Amino acid sequence: MNIINEVENILKKGGIEEYKKEARILTCEISGLNIEDIILDKPIENPKKIIALAKKRAMDRIPIQHLIGYSFFMGEKYKVDKNVLIPRDETELLVLKAYELLKNREDKINILDIGTGTGCIACALAKKLADKNIEILGVDISSDALIVALENINNLNLERKVIVRKSDLFSKIRPQEKFDLIISNPPYIPVKEKNNLQFEVKNFEPELALFAQDDLGIEFYKKIILNSPKFLKFDGFLAFEAGFNQAQEIKNLLKKDFKDIEITPDLAGIERVICAKINN
Ligand SMILES: C[S@@+](CC[C@H](N)C(=O)[O-])C[C@H]1O[C@@H](n2cnc3c(N)ncnc32)[C@H](O)[C@@H]1O
Repeated sequence: MNIINEVENILKKGGIEEYKKEARILTCEISGLNIEDIILDKPIENPKKIIALAKKRAMDRIPIQHLIGYSFFMGEKYKVDKNVLIPRDETELLVLKAYELLKNREDKINILDIGTGTGCIACALAKKLADKNIEILGVDISSDALIVALENINNLNLERKVIVRKSDLFSKIRPQEKFDLIISNPPYIPVKEKNNLQFEVKNFEPELALFAQDDLGIEFYKKIILNSPKFLKFDGFLAFEAGFNQAQEIKNLLKKDFKDIEITPDLAGIERVICAKINN
């Protein structure tokens, strides 16, 4: 039997929903071969390792990204471990909307990414805005997350454009630091929903990255919206990723100090990204 089929069978029996996709990822990433070579039965150096990891995935339900050590975001590889949120596809929409907001700016662009985690938002924006004079500051409350972010920044050769700092939201941002864009995908799952989460998320992703303590899951948005006017340049923007049913609440919070509020749904129709301009 071809190794792909063998891995698929193991994952399917283990109840892995996307067993076909994951079988391909696991086999290609560990063998270093592409899918065509594997289907054509090109010899694989380490089949035992692939089978062992497939069994681990099926039995312990460790996320595949943790087994291979990285995840993909906007076409780039990001190291992930238990200290960071695995980048999600929906977050790519946030990056694309943020890029639209800034792509015509001529002067130096400063961006603050709050809750940077892997650094995926900061790095993806630095890549997309490669022709600009740009400096992105990624902050996180977790030192362990910042270690991962630094590794990703180095791997992508973005050390001159993306820097990181440990900070509880704005606590370590100096009053004279001003940004064209403050962007954030903050923790937004109401903690009371913890038991409804997928096993892999609940057991392998960091609580710090997932949960907000209030019933609606909007505590971080409230704090960021309240504090960001002090740190935005003239005509600066705020851009958020939002969870299910949160965008309208966030819009209401924005109305006091922001204008041009725009909500963008994701492919599933969930109001996912919310952008606004400071009212100055
Ligand atoms: C949902 S994750 C987002 C990670 C990454 N930006 C992404 O989009 O994949 C939220 C991040 O916020 C960080 N965080 C939680 N509370 C924070 C706080 N008070 N100040 C700064 N960062 C915080 C977490 O450690 C986590 O890395």
